[in-house]
Amino acid sequence: MPASEGRGTSSSELNKPSPAIWKKRVAVARMEEIFSALAEDPGTETCAAMKDLVSKGSLYVKAGGSPEVRDAGLIGAAQLVEHSEIAAYRTTKTMAKRLGESRAVELLQRTFDEESAADEKLTSIAEVKSMRWRLPHKTTLLSFWP
Ligand SMILES: [Fe+2]
Repeated sequence: MPASEGRGTSSSELNKPSPAIWKKRVAVARMEEIFSALAEDPGTETCAAMKDLVSKGSLYVKAGGSPEVRDAGLIGAAQLVEHSEIAAYRTTKTMAKRLGESRAVELLQRTFDEESAADEKLTSIAEVKSMRWRLPHKTTLLSFWP
């Protein structure tokens, strides 16, 4: 019996990029198109702020304690990433609009919409999950303050 019919996951399924990875690849391709059209080099610099946000999220992956608090932390960390991306795409789109780069505006709007949808999905997950959370103490709320 193939693994896909049983309880396990086949190695080919595990190697498939997730829909989120595909969306990210499409977003990167859009940015490459924009840089190419502007005859600019995108470079390879890693965004330090994004790196910091991702590392904060990974702290929740490794954290012990209440699974509810860990889930809330992961969702919050993921939303911080989305909000940063939303701000970056909004700002870049505004600049492209001012420069009359209509194709760039169109491409940036698509990615902006996807990032906004991801943020809304995370909010929905948090709202549904939080109905079942038993937060251990009110001070837990303070741990989410950036
Ligand atoms: Fe995102």
